[in-house]
Amino acid sequence: MSENRKLKDFLDLSLWSRNELEGLLDLAAELKQDPAKFSQSLAGKSLAMIFKKSSTRTRVSFEVGMFQLGGQAIFMSATHTQVGRGEPLEDTARVLSRYVDGIMIRTFEHAEVETLARYASVPVINGLTDLLHPCQLLTDIFTIKERLGENLCGLKVAYIGDGNNMANSWINAALQFGFDLRIASPSGYEPDATLLERAQQSTKGGSKVTVVNDPLVAAQGVRVLNTDVWASMGQEDEAVARRKVFAGFQINDELLAVAAPEPLVLHCLPAHRGEEISAETFERYQDLIFTQAENRLHVQKALLVTLLAD
Ligand code: CP
Ligand code: NVA
Repeated sequence: MSENRKLKDFLDLSLWSRNELEGLLDLAAELKQDPAKFSQSLAGKSLAMIFKKSSTRTRVSFEVGMFQLGGQAIFMSATHTQVGRGEPLEDTARVLSRYVDGIMIRTFEHAEVETLARYASVPVINGLTDLLHPCQLLTDIFTIKERLGENLCGLKVAYIGDGNNMANSWINAALQFGFDLRIASPSGYEPDATLLERAQQSTKGGSKVTVVNDPLVAAQGVRVLNTDVWASMGQEDEAVARRKVFAGFQINDELLAVAAPEPLVLHCLPAHRGEEISAETFERYQDLIFTQAENRLHVQKALLVTLLAD
């Protein structure tokens, strides 16, 4: 638990500088190379993890990450804590700040993460909201760099599917890293209009963001293809209707045929084979996709060391 005002939260890629993000990626590479590095750097430190939504990767990678760095993680499911009974996040933030050294939260409204960060005196990490999933995106950039090398400026990337937290996070990443990002979403399911407008008006670092309604147009000549579920957590009631709307927004052989030679296919998981990705494509790229999942651990360890170590 920190007695000083925290230096930083990790809520949104756009709130960190390109240099700071590059620093995290470099540190993550060192930690992947030597998982025992900094093994006692968080000795005696605790991370509280509030989950209002389900998780496999985020929960386990943060928990193992804290353990490998000498600290501990405390899993707080909303259903089994006062968080789920309506205790205000303003109070939860101030209580937890008296016990722990950092708070990770996965929730619905992005504003809740911002409230938590405003009231916490320890760093807050966004473990996914309806708007953004920055830990996943930082990992995706790390994974691309690992395969394609250092210079990602001008890289042609396609995101196929729902304009959800992953699509929005890709927009922020495009701005930070100078990607040429093409998003294909069905009409009415495009990404957040405010984030899109900011990206399209930006002249920063050569980034370019376009949104189309035809996956084949978005995939033309791209080196990296991404997708995500058609119905995110909290949209379970819409799943059947969305299957109709999103039919055709799938990464499959037809789409890969128009991409650049040797494209990378990423998926943040969990995947729905036969929906956003064909079973054949998923299996062909399974090694890369599970490496991407593994990289959550290395990247988040870098984040934890940066935010929580003395
Ligand atoms: N990709 C991802 O965040 O997975 P989980 O929902 O399992 O944490
Ligand atoms: N868009 C998905 C991402 C899961 C990691 C969701 O929010 O459910």
